[in-house]
Amino acid sequence: MALLLTNIAQLINTRTTNQLLRGKALAELPVLNNAWLLVEQDRIAAFGAMDALPQTNAEVYDVQGGTVLPAFVDSHTHLVFAASRENEFVDKIRGLSYAEIAANGGGILNSAARLANTDEDTLYQLAAARLHKLILLGTGAIEIKSGYGLSTEAELKMLRVIRRLKQNFPIPIKATFLGAHSFPPEYKQNHEGYVQLIIHEMTPAVAAENLAEYIDVFCEQGFFTPDQTTRILEAGKAAGLLPKIHANQLHVSGGVETGVAAGAISVDHLESMNQEAIHCLAKSNTIGTLLPTAAYFLRMPFQPARELIDAGCAVAIASDFNPGSSPSGNMQTVVSMSCIQMRMLPEEAINAATLNAAYALQLENEVGSITVGKKANLMITQPIPSIAYLPYAFGENHVARMLVNGQWYD
Ligand code: NIG
Ligand code: FE
Repeated sequence: MALLLTNIAQLINTRTTNQLLRGKALAELPVLNNAWLLVEQDRIAAFGAMDALPQTNAEVYDVQGGTVLPAFVDSHTHLVFAASRENEFVDKIRGLSYAEIAANGGGILNSAARLANTDEDTLYQLAAARLHKLILLGTGAIEIKSGYGLSTEAELKMLRVIRRLKQNFPIPIKATFLGAHSFPPEYKQNHEGYVQLIIHEMTPAVAAENLAEYIDVFCEQGFFTPDQTTRILEAGKAAGLLPKIHANQLHVSGGVETGVAAGAISVDHLESMNQEAIHCLAKSNTIGTLLPTAAYFLRMPFQPARELIDAGCAVAIASDFNPGSSPSGNMQTVVSMSCIQMRMLPEEAINAATLNAAYALQLENEVGSITVGKKANLMITQPIPSIAYLPYAFGENHVARMLVNGQWYD
């Protein structure tokens, strides 16, 4: 099947080569005005200016002055969960902190208790409904973590749900094993015992079923120490899982340095940074993934995006979709919040949510830019006056239609 999109007001992020964007390069967003784009099978076959429209037998779809972007890549989510936690949201409004809620058995442990009592089919249906909505909001590739299991059986159950999502949804999905998300109640007095369980039982079981690409640890005061994080990541690497971790969310926890030393693909969150952590990240190949909606929801200071970018760190942005700290997976909101609250330029935010995010999932040869040969996972917007209008007019759904693998996704 071939499809020719015509009358594209702006074709955004057109590139012939891939490059992880740092510093000033992050603000360079290549745009082709008044363009066409040809899709063949599931791929981008060609694009150009409307005054040189090709002769083709392809079906024509006039986008009527809409803008076309590569679909968002959401490189950090916890999309599989059993139930929402709006009761804790109200507790937070009343004054409890995220850490206090967690210490009282709420938070991640609350989600783990609910998940233990929910069967795989139900979890799948819940997650599939969420994912369907996110694709319609612009997401064209996604990472999904386990981490509400906290037992071998329940972690495997979550990862099997993610495997079913991979089988049944047309977008690229990467799975991350996050057994080290919190200490389950039975290991409250025996943290080392749980670390040993992750290393010697869970990680080999995940690898044996080939259920994950990545391994994650919540490296944070009150959760996993840098030393425990390092040991878990090394066990993951030995089993073929690459590190991608939660770092420096609530405190300057040493998570960035720990992740970089382990060769993590990304260190994610980064609300709590100091100069050493920024410098360490800037001189590494590790991507810093900023999760502004989590900072917003927990009423925390936003990630220091400007300092990170200006220091030369490679940054991506993602939703962190989860029931405790970011109950929204809307990447349009993430882009807006990155501009409004972290002072990222619209061009920077779009690059961070597409090409750099594709790198954070090792999908840079498949998605993340308008490049011949990449998957035709594309977002067609309503007509908008300029690309800055996208983050500016926050709260509005700008997506008119999505193409996934060159097919309409409605
Ligand atoms: O990325 N910080 C750790 N994990 C999640 C929150 C999980 C939860 O509260 O359920 C996060 O913010
Ligand atoms: Fe997270």
